[in-house]
Amino acid sequence: MEPIHSDVSHVIITEAEIRSRVAELGARISEDYAGESVLLIAVLRGAALFVADLSRQISTPVELDFMAVSSYGSSTKSSGVVRILKDLDEGIEGRHVLVVEDILDTGLTLKYLLKNLASRKPKTLDVVTLLSKQGKQRVPIDCKYVGFEVPDEFVVGYGLDYDERYRNLPYIGVLKPEVYAD
Ligand code: PRP
Repeated sequence: MEPIHSDVSHVIITEAEIRSRVAELGARISEDYAGESVLLIAVLRGAALFVADLSRQISTPVELDFMAVSSYGSSTKSSGVVRILKDLDEGIEGRHVLVVEDILDTGLTLKYLLKNLASRKPKTLDVVTLLSKQGKQRVPIDCKYVGFEVPDEFVVGYGLDYDERYRNLPYIGVLKPEVYAD
C-alpha cells in the first residue's frame, strides 16, 4: 500500500473501498436504467474522476456531458448563487439524466443545477453523489444514489481539492489543519 500524502492526517475511505462502492453504484444504476440510455452529467471539476470510473461500471448505454459552475464572489458556499461557466453541449429534453457529483455539502450547487436542468424537460432527473456531508445540508436534496456519508471535515482526494491540489490522490483523506490555516 502506498504511503499517505504528508499533508493528509488520515484516510477515511481507501482506494479499495471506493472501487468497491463505485462498482455497487454502477450495478444499481445498470439495473435501474436497464434497456434505457442514460446521460451522465458530471459537474466539473471534482466529479471528473468519479464519472470516469462510474461510467465504466454501467452496462446500459451511457452518454457523457459536462457542466462547470461557479458561485459569485468569494462566499462560494453560502451565497447559493451559481454561475454556469460551461453549459452542456447538447439538449436533454426527453432523456434520462443522472447528475454526477463528487460531494454534496450545503446542497446549494445541486439545488440550482437541478432547477436549471429540470426546466429543460428531461424525462427523468436524478443525482448520484460519491460523498454526502453529514448534517451540512442547508437545502434538502433528494439524491438517488449516495456512495458514502462523510463527517464535516476537510476532505480531499479522488477529485476533491484544496486550492486545486490533491485531486489525484486515489483515496479520500482528511487534510491536516495546518495546511489550510493562515
Ligand atoms: C464542490 C462540489 C460540488 C459543490 C458542493 O465543488 O464538487 O459541486 O462544491 O457544495 P455545496 O453542496 O455546498 O453546493 P467546488 O466548488 O469545490 O468545485 P470543484 O468541483 O471544481 O472542486
